[in-house]
Formats: sequence, C-alpha cells, structure tokens
Amino acid sequence: MLRTGVLVSGGGTNLQAILDAIDNGTVTNTEIAVVISNNPGAYALERARKHGIPAECLSPKNFPSREAFNDALVEKVDSYGLDLIVLAGFLVKIPEKMIAKYRNRIINIHPSLIPSFCGVGYYGLKVHEAALERGVKITGATVHFVDEGMDSGPILLQKAVEVKPGDTPETLQRRVMEEAEWKLLPAAIDMIANHRLDGDKQEGGTGK
Ligand code: GAR
Repeated sequence: MLRTGVLVSGGGTNLQAILDAIDNGTVTNTEIAVVISNNPGAYALERARKHGIPAECLSPKNFPSREAFNDALVEKVDSYGLDLIVLAGFLVKIPEKMIAKYRNRIINIHPSLIPSFCGVGYYGLKVHEAALERGVKITGATVHFVDEGMDSGPILLQKAVEVKPGDTPETLQRRVMEEAEWKLLPAAIDMIANHRLDGDKQEGGTGK
C-alpha cells in the first residue's frame, strides 16, 4: 500500500478524482492517509472529511514566520509516514528541506503542457488566461516530480487538450481538468503505486 498524502489549497476536484479512482479500482495499492491544506476554507478539506480521511489545516497566517510554517508543514507530513506526497492544486512553495527529504516522492499536477505557461506566477486560472492570450491551439496538463525549481522537475505524464474558439479561461480550465487532469493524476499515482515508472500505463499505452 502506497501511503499517500494529498496537499491542497482549493476546491479539490483533483483530490476527488483520486478518491473516486481508488474507490472504483482504477488506482490500486494506494491509501490516502491525510489531506493537508494551507487554506482553512478549502472545500477539499470537506471532501476529505466526507471520505473519512484526516483533514489537516496549517495556515501560514498562524505562524510567526515562513520558516516556522515550513517546519510545521514538514513535521506534519513526517508524522503520517508517507510514501508519496501529491500536490493537487497546492499553491504554496514546498520547503527545500521537504524536497530533499522526499526526493522523487513528491508529484505535482500543473494545468499546461510544461514547459509552456509554467513557473513563477503561473497557477490556476492564470495559466489558462496566458494560454488564450498567446493564442495556442493545444494546451493540456502535466504531472511531474517536484524539485527545487518551480514546475521544473522530471515529467511523468502529459496529456494534450484542444483550445476551442470562444473559450474563456473558465471553459478552458474546465476542459483541461475533465480531459486531462482528472485522468492524469490518478494514472500517475497508480504508476507509482504499482512500480510502473516507464510511462507504459499512460492512456493508449501497452500496459505491459
Ligand atoms: C488545478 O487546475 C491544478 O492543476 C492547479 O490548480 C487547480 C486546482 O484545482 N494547480 C496549479 O496551477 C499549480 N501550479 P482543484 O483544487 O479543483 O483540484
């Protein structure tokens, strides 16, 4: 069983996709041990509670310094003895200490085809606003390992999504979630849980 912690900041639709995929057997050998948010109002916390999963909140506002928050976050994560940490819309920079401690055990979902529209300042709707502004015809989502940079770690999975005439950032975000993110993130977890890191579990792959 891959003991997995999911870090969230918002609505938690990606978290929901993971929970559903575990429930319906698409993702195996995986247990969500905890959901942690920096945002007390995150609906993702409610989704975790409804599922009987420990939901923890650590808000930077309740700590005297960023360093104190970072230490508390690492301590909290450590306390659950996790094999994998999934950033599912977690909009906080991961402390370097945590990256070093959990090297190749932290994955992130980003709503574009990295290296397009990623890095500092590109998160949530802003990514889709930038894609529309640039006029790309294809966008998508990426799951990658987290390293010390911003969206710069090794890529695990990517999926392309068409931009359609008349798209707004909101309609594009929704399509990228439905067609890419909600499939890709569970697929990446299943690959890790079942020791298939060569990409052959990707949609259309041989699944050997
Ligand atoms: C998702 O689109 C995710 O890719 C994005 O935030 C959204 C969270 O939605 N993450 C980033 O932009 C990270 N740079 P959710 O809370 O409904 O899963």
